[in-house]
Amino acid sequence: MFKIIPGKKEIGAEIFCDINKIKKIHIRKIKIALLKYGMLYFRKQNLNSKNYINFAKNFGKLAEYPRLKGLNKKYPKITVVQRKASDKGPSFGEQFHTDSIYTKQPPRFTMLLSKLVPKKGKANTEFCSQYLAYKNLPTSFKKKLKKYKGNYSSEGPISITTQERVKEKGKINKELKSRHNIIKNINTKYTIYCSPGHFVGFNSKLKKEKKLENFLLTHQIRKKFQFSLEWEKNQLAIWDNRSMLHQATPFKGNRIMHRITIQ
Ligand SMILES: [Fe+2]
Repeated sequence: MFKIIPGKKEIGAEIFCDINKIKKIHIRKIKIALLKYGMLYFRKQNLNSKNYINFAKNFGKLAEYPRLKGLNKKYPKITVVQRKASDKGPSFGEQFHTDSIYTKQPPRFTMLLSKLVPKKGKANTEFCSQYLAYKNLPTSFKKKLKKYKGNYSSEGPISITTQERVKEKGKINKELKSRHNIIKNINTKYTIYCSPGHFVGFNSKLKKEKKLENFLLTHQIRKKFQFSLEWEKNQLAIWDNRSMLHQATPFKGNRIMHRITIQ
């Protein structure tokens, strides 16, 4: 069985298939769907780490997460993203962001595979389509923002949510910084590429335009561009960091996700 069911307003899509038995032709369809819908999810996937890695390799070169160590020596490219019931601070990634934008070459795609989850609907991941955010910009802003670059930092507003895990399993504490164009073109579709969780201002050569900054940061996360993904055990999700923002919803409890990022 292989079926693609797009979400409302084409924000994300659910794929029905068994990844353990996936064929080349379906991989091709999945890649096209990923570019079109920005996020795909697959329920009921009993994947071991080897098959998980093999599936991920279809989308590009596996990246290393600069801030946390890998699962083990055999699978260094799988990062464990864990929330513990004893954690007091906000959840890891609890603000809209795009992964590792503070690096020179941020990963295009991120995958999560759920290993341990609270009750369904209690700990969602929210996605926000930046294709729609771009489409809904007034024309004058579309033109204006094309000239802008954003500055990003690993010490941006969201870094508070990663502190507990970085303290335990962290590799580096050095601040990472980058600069990227705000408007991106992906396969003829335009998107806003700006991570509110890491944004520290526009290109410093231009004089500070606080009003435009505030407009952009509010506009790009409007409710009508969002989709809230519920998790169940053994569910896989993959998203395009260039066209989708994401955030964890606040929750108390234990959750373990295995994450892979792809260049
Ligand atoms: Fe994230």
